Amino acid sequence: MAVRSRHAQHVDLDPDRRSPPCVLVIFGASGDLTARKLLPALERLAGYGALPPEVALVGVARTPMSDADFGELCRRSVSGDDPRWRELTAAARYVHGGYDDPATYQRLAEVLAECDERHGTAGNRVYYLATPPRLFGPIAVSLGKAGLSAPTDGAFVRAVVEKPFGWDEDSARDLYADLSSAFTEEQIFRIDHYLAKETVQNLLALRFANSIFEPIWNRTWVDNVQITVAETLGVGDRGGFYETTGAMRDIVQNHVLQVLSLFLMEPPTSFHAEAIRDEKVKLLRAIRPLEDEEEIAANAVRGQYTRGGTREDLMAGYRDEPGVDPLSSTETFVAMRLEVQNWRWTGVPVYVRTGKRLPARLTEVAMEFRRPPQLPLFPGRAEGLEPDALVVRVQPDEGLSLKFGAKVPGHAFRVQKASMDFSYESFDEQSPDAYERVILDALIGDPTLFIRADEVGRSWRIVDPVMRYWAADPRPIPLYQAATWGPPEADALITRDGRGWRHSARS
Ligand code: BG6
Repeated sequence: MAVRSRHAQHVDLDPDRRSPPCVLVIFGASGDLTARKLLPALERLAGYGALPPEVALVGVARTPMSDADFGELCRRSVSGDDPRWRELTAAARYVHGGYDDPATYQRLAEVLAECDERHGTAGNRVYYLATPPRLFGPIAVSLGKAGLSAPTDGAFVRAVVEKPFGWDEDSARDLYADLSSAFTEEQIFRIDHYLAKETVQNLLALRFANSIFEPIWNRTWVDNVQITVAETLGVGDRGGFYETTGAMRDIVQNHVLQVLSLFLMEPPTSFHAEAIRDEKVKLLRAIRPLEDEEEIAANAVRGQYTRGGTREDLMAGYRDEPGVDPLSSTETFVAMRLEVQNWRWTGVPVYVRTGKRLPARLTEVAMEFRRPPQLPLFPGRAEGLEPDALVVRVQPDEGLSLKFGAKVPGHAFRVQKASMDFSYESFDEQSPDAYERVILDALIGDPTLFIRADEVGRSWRIVDPVMRYWAADPRPIPLYQAATWGPPEADALITRDGRGWRHSARS
């Protein structure tokens, strides 16, 4: 049985997976991401003993605050009360100032030197950029100019950045230029928190720690692949941000394409970060970007949610959300049919789908297998039988199911869908939160779960033509009611191939 209580939980912490001496500097320390994700993750890491006394915490932001106020903010942002966390936050330092003001970086340099002296952090730094994305470039450039990005005397200096990595391929290149004016590619850790989800990592174990799956992992056996990232939530109070982003940039360009590439890539020659990232980028290169308008219109669907739900639980439409233009044509739903053109996958369609305000919170990767060549034993009694499938549930209820047909007991020969299920609940160990994993990896310096610059560029190349087409498309965006599975066009995308989405009220 999985242990549920936070304090009694058992996280399998490899003794090597403990931060080396280091100052963790959070830019955007007074912001929402820091409070919601980073501080709770740090508190848990402190609780597991992953942050030894030679780790220090420094916050940087524009809001004026004292060191003590920042320490207090850290403690208030988490529900736990671990002694090491209290110690870490009591010693936390805070630097306030403009992100492009050289004086901010001068003060930061002094604080860092004091941390080295006081905590033995040995010149090692990890800069976590938890600010709005437009500040990533200016912060990196300023760190470079202040001489704070270059490691000294065998120390390490790393920069951790969150998506979005640009807005399209060109702006991603500009961001890259800014980041690399200060940091080498090895120093840059680009987060995709989906890669840190336990079940996403389990894709590697499933494929490469077993021998029974890999032989069927190809076009001979697989009929189609479906990736769904469905959310029940709307945009909430992030309307302003979402208006400039949309589902394609928010989820498809990063999370969906990352999961897809791990699921379909060739076996890496080793489990080293570079070997895995090489295979992922090869797979992304094999996805042929949709090119002409006709092809895009046929293979990419967008949608936007309208008011919906039930009388008791009526949900606002996207255009009525705070911060959203009442005439907005930003997409909150995307479905695409992609093709991977390589020896293993040519001819196997990959259907991907993501949306807000869908009927269920569900992220899964499924492989549907080819149907048997004929059903001689029971003609007419297996109609409507879904294809055999291997389903990896990333969330919720993390696990794996193999779906197949089985005979229903009785005199008649009737076949019905059956399922063999594995659930992560069967482990005693609890999965660490994705942010715990990425923060600790960044502190340790393991880049496996971070995205390399060439992957970013390649992903934009897949989504950019579709975004350009939609921006120029004069037709109104297709709509779907909140709590439904997207616009009817999304069904048409797959039913015209004689297939259906795995979760859909209409299939
Ligand atoms: C983020 C997106 O990257 O992922 C959000 O910006 C989205 O819009 C979130 O809600 C989903 O993450 P998770 O871990 O809740 O599936």
